[in-house]
Amino acid sequence: MTPVRKLVSVADMSRQWWDRLYAQCCDIIARPDTYAAACSGKLLASMFYEPSTRTNFSFQAAAQRLGAGVFGFSDPLGTSASKGETLADTIRMTASYSDTIVIRSPQEGAAAAAALYSEVPVINAGDGGHFHPTQTLTDLATIAQKRGNIDNLCIGICGDLKYGRTVHSLIEAMAMFKGIRFCLISPQELQLPEYILEQMKAQGQQYIESESLTDCMAELDILYMTRVQRERFHDAAQYRRLKDVYILTSKMLEGAKSDMQIMHPLPRYGEIAIDVDDDPRAVYFEQARYGMFIRMSLLLDFMHQPRLAPRPVTSALTQPTCGNPACITQSDFYLPKITSNLGIDRCGYCDKKFPILEF
Ligand code: NCD
Repeated sequence: MTPVRKLVSVADMSRQWWDRLYAQCCDIIARPDTYAAACSGKLLASMFYEPSTRTNFSFQAAAQRLGAGVFGFSDPLGTSASKGETLADTIRMTASYSDTIVIRSPQEGAAAAAALYSEVPVINAGDGGHFHPTQTLTDLATIAQKRGNIDNLCIGICGDLKYGRTVHSLIEAMAMFKGIRFCLISPQELQLPEYILEQMKAQGQQYIESESLTDCMAELDILYMTRVQRERFHDAAQYRRLKDVYILTSKMLEGAKSDMQIMHPLPRYGEIAIDVDDDPRAVYFEQARYGMFIRMSLLLDFMHQPRLAPRPVTSALTQPTCGNPACITQSDFYLPKITSNLGIDRCGYCDKKFPILEF
């Protein structure tokens, strides 16, 4: 198996790679002391351009539990980005000091861009409303721990499917497993983006779309709740109208399977009532803990990768390659134009269809 050197999207993963990563994670859970110095002398660079609690803390905890050090920032105002430094320059420099980089950005495609310029592995800890593959590792580890395997599941995903980056990566990853059916529960305005639906169709993934949280409750093996992503809305009134559309209460769980898992990437903002926390089916706090162990497994692999000079990247472009206002190419004009493997008409950074093709 060729070593995986970056985790920017689920496309970097394979079933074989996941199985090995998860087996290693189980061993870390069973024998944590054995791994206490496994990354001693290594350094994780942690670049959080956007707020985070679980992802940031769990990466820091994971690195330190492996004996590695961590440096970085959780507020870009303290960095040269605030002086106008390009992402490419910041990454080249950060990579020269570290053994792995973890990056979260409000810009879609930022981690993919970072990986072009880094000589150490890059991990996407969330790029705008696009992808969040290490939350997916957390979700898969939780399902595997709770159910023993990840096949033959009916998964309800409820809330903000449009901007919820954890949802996009989770759906894509589920194509690696057998017999998965989705019930996609959202208001019309927050349905999955076109590029995810296109990909689901191309992969032959089975789904139904619904606006009702209760209609398919009795069938679900997993209920994955999500927060309406206030920070991605352009229209505050629309956010206020949609934010409380789904509120899961313990009463609504009466008809649900007794062995269903209720998951949430967290933070929640009212969409799961507190009375659900005491239900044995609620696993969202455990889920956050599994996130630390699976990230330990990931860092253990990545921090020992040899340093490799990135492919030379030159570009004469002086304007954005993509019309998506949230795309990294809107600010970092030097980035080479790349196309995603979903077809030649898509931006390789954010997966949106190209509205402009004049280069
Ligand atoms: C999620 C995120 O940042 O996308 N949180 C997380 O990483 N655990 C979900 C969210 O913020 O709603």
